[in-house]
Amino acid sequence: MTQDELKKAVGQAAVDFIKDKLEENSVIGVGTGSTANCFIDALAAYKDRFDGAVASSEATAKRLKDHGIPVYDLNAVGELEFYIDGADESNHLLHLIKGGGAALTREKIVAAASKTFICIADQSKLVDTLGAFPLPVEVIPMARSYVARELVKLGGDPVYRAGVTTDNGNVILDVHNMRITDPVALELAINNIVGVVTNGLFAARPADVLLLGTSEGVKTLKAE
Ligand code: A5P
Repeated sequence: MTQDELKKAVGQAAVDFIKDKLEENSVIGVGTGSTANCFIDALAAYKDRFDGAVASSEATAKRLKDHGIPVYDLNAVGELEFYIDGADESNHLLHLIKGGGAALTREKIVAAASKTFICIADQSKLVDTLGAFPLPVEVIPMARSYVARELVKLGGDPVYRAGVTTDNGNVILDVHNMRITDPVALELAINNIVGVVTNGLFAARPADVLLLGTSEGVKTLKAE
C-alpha cells in the first residue's frame, strides 16, 4: 500500500472507532495535516450523527465547513469527547512530535480539552526514540534569536522556518539533531523558555490510542 492509502485507511479506522460513540450533541476535536484530512473526508458520511467540531487550524475549519460540518469556537463548548489528529513521530509510549504543519499550539489546546486523543498515522511515523523529525517550536517573533540560543544550550540546532507565520501570528523554529530520550522533561524545559508559545512534544499529554496504518492493516496501539 502507498503512504496515501495508509493515511486513508487510518482516517476511516478513526471514524469506525468513534462512530457508534457519537451522540447528537457531541462535539469532537479535529487536527491538522494530510492524515487528519483523510479523517475529515471519511467523517463527512456521519455528519448527521453529531453536532459539530472544533478545528485546530484555519485549514481544518475550512475543510470541515466545506463538508457541511458545523465548526465551533472552543470557548463555546465544554469538554470534547474525542480529539483525532496525525503526528510527525510517535514512540511506543504514544509521546508525539507534532507541528510539521505549524498548527501545534491549537492542536495542543484542543488535545488538552479532549477526553480521548486518538492519533492516526502511517507506519513510517512509529519510532523507538523521538527526534529524527526536527522538533517544531512556536515562538513570539521578537523572542526568536533569544529562544534559538536557549535551544542550543539544550543541545539542539534550531532552524528558522522562513516564510511561515502560524495562525496565531508567530514564527516556528525547527530543532534538529535532538535525540529525545526524556520527552516529558524536554517538553517542560522548552516550555520554560521565555518567548516560547508551545513546543511540538505531546508527551505530558500523550495520545491515548494510536491507529497505525501498516501493510498488514490498521493496528491499534495503546501506551505501553
Ligand atoms: C500539523 O501541525 C501537524 O502536527 C500534523 O499533525 C503532522 O505534521 C502530521 O501531518 P501529516 O498527517 O500531513 O503527516
